[in-house]
Amino acid sequence: DRPFSQKLEVPEALTFDDVLLRPKESRVEPDDADVSTRVSKNVELNIPVLSAAMDTVTESDTAIGMAREGGLGVLHRNMEIEETVAEIERVKRADELVIDRENVVTANPDQTIAEVDQMMGREGVSGAPVVDDDDTVLGIISGTDIRPFLEVGETDHVREAMTDEVITAEEDINARDALELMYEYKIERVPIVDDNETLVGLVTMQGLLQRRENQNAARDEDGRLRCGVAVGPFETDRATAADDAGADVLFIDCAHAHNLNVIEAAREIKQEVDADVVVGNVGTSEAAAEVVDFADGIKVGIGPGSICTTRVVTGAGMPQITAVAEVADVAASEDVPVIADGGIRYSGDAIKAIAAGADAVMLGSYFAGTEEAPGRVITMNGKKYKQYRGMGSVGAMKSGGGDRYLKDDEDGEEFVPEGVEAATPYKGTLASELHQLVGGMRSGMGYVGAETIPGFKERSEFIRVSSAGQTEGHPHDVMITDEAPNYSPDE
Ligand code: XMP
Repeated sequence: DRPFSQKLEVPEALTFDDVLLRPKESRVEPDDADVSTRVSKNVELNIPVLSAAMDTVTESDTAIGMAREGGLGVLHRNMEIEETVAEIERVKRADELVIDRENVVTANPDQTIAEVDQMMGREGVSGAPVVDDDDTVLGIISGTDIRPFLEVGETDHVREAMTDEVITAEEDINARDALELMYEYKIERVPIVDDNETLVGLVTMQGLLQRRENQNAARDEDGRLRCGVAVGPFETDRATAADDAGADVLFIDCAHAHNLNVIEAAREIKQEVDADVVVGNVGTSEAAAEVVDFADGIKVGIGPGSICTTRVVTGAGMPQITAVAEVADVAASEDVPVIADGGIRYSGDAIKAIAAGADAVMLGSYFAGTEEAPGRVITMNGKKYKQYRGMGSVGAMKSGGGDRYLKDDEDGEEFVPEGVEAATPYKGTLASELHQLVGGMRSGMGYVGAETIPGFKERSEFIRVSSAGQTEGHPHDVMITDEAPNYSPDE
C-alpha cells in the first residue's frame, strides 16, 4: 500500500571522492604510525592491505610478495583444486627456515664433477648435500669445492671433491642457532638430519638472509608466510583442500553474499575448516547482520571496483564509504574485522576506507600492473601494460569464475557479464607500489593524529566535499611535467 513516491525519499550514500579526513592536532610522524591490523578474527597483518582474488592479480608470486611486505595475497580460484593446493604450498614454503627434504637438491657420491656442476646450474643452487641411496648424509659439495676439479678433473667423482666433515643440525633448530653454526664453522648450508643421520631438510644462508630482509612479513605460528585463498560458496572441496594445505584465511568469493543459499553454504564451509573464513561481498547492514554470528571477517564491496559493471548492468550497488560504515557498525558488535574491497585508486582512498570502519583494504587494479601479477607485459604505442580483467568479465567467467556472479554457462555464449577486460599501465615491483600505498596511509594517520589503526578508526572524522572541492583536491591549472610515483594524471 506504500505509495511509490515514497521510494523517492531516498537516503544518500557516499563514496571516496565525497569525503575527506578532517585534519586534527597531531604529534604523530608518519614513520611512527603503527599500521598493523587484523584481517579476520585470528589472523593479524603488519600492513592493512590485501591483493584481490583475481586471475590477473593474485597467484603465488603476488601472494609471496604481499606476505613478505606484511600484507596478504588472496589466491584467485580460476584454477583446478590441485593447482590451488600447489600455489598455497609455494607461498608457505617460500621463506621457510628449513627447506623440506623433497625440495632439497642433493648430489650422489658417484656422480662426476661435470654432472654435479650441470645439475647445480640447472637447479639454481650453489651447493648440495651428498647422500647415499638411503638418504644418509655423507658430505656436502659446493661450487668452491668443484671449481679446481672443473679445470683438471671433470671426470673425478663427487666423493673425492666433497667436504666429508659435515655440520648438521636437528629439525627443531631456530634461525639464531643456524646463524651461529654458520658463523662458527664458516659454512653456508646446514643439512637437517634425524637421529639416523638421514637427511630431512636444509637451512641455507641465502634463506636466512631473505627472512632477515623481511622482518615485517606476515607469518603464521610456524614462521611461514600467510596465504589467503578464494573459494566459491559451494566449493567445499576447494575449501577443505586449501585448509589442509595450510591456507590461513579462506574468502568466500561471491559478488552478492546476501544471497541466502550462499550464506547457508558459507556456514557449512566454516564448520568444515580450521582456517578463518571471511564472508563477502556485502554492502549493507542487513547483509552484515546475517553473517556476523559465524564469519571471521566480512568483506564489503558491491560494484565499486575499477573493472566492475555490476552497478550499470544490474542497477544495484552501494557507494563504498557508506557500505563500509554500515557493515562496520554491525561487525563491531561481534568484534569481526571488516575488509573494504574495490574502488581504491589512491592511498588516500585506502585510509578513508579505514576511517569509515574497515580494518583492512583489498585492491585489484592497484596491483595488476606489477611484475608479480600473473600475465605478461604488453606494449602498445611504446607504453607497457598488463592485462587486468574483472572476474565477472566474459573472459574470466569462461575460465571458470562464473559462479561468483551466480552464473553458470558451459559454452559462455549466454553470459551476462558484470565486468570488463582491460589493460593497466605496467608499474614495476609490488614492493614499490606497497611502499607508496602504505606510506600515504601512514601520512593520513599523521594528519589525523592517530598512532594505530584502531586509534585512527576512533579519532578520524569526515567532512563532505563539493564537486568544486574535489577539483581543488587534484593538481589543477598546471601541466604536470614529471609523473609522481603515487599520482598519475591519466587517472
Ligand atoms: P579494484 O577497484 O581494486 O577492485 O580494481 C577490485 C575488486 O573488484 C571486484 N571485482 C569485480 N566486481 N565485476 C564486479 O562488479 C567484476 O567483474 C569484478 N571482478 C572483480 C572484486 O571484489 C575485486 O576485489
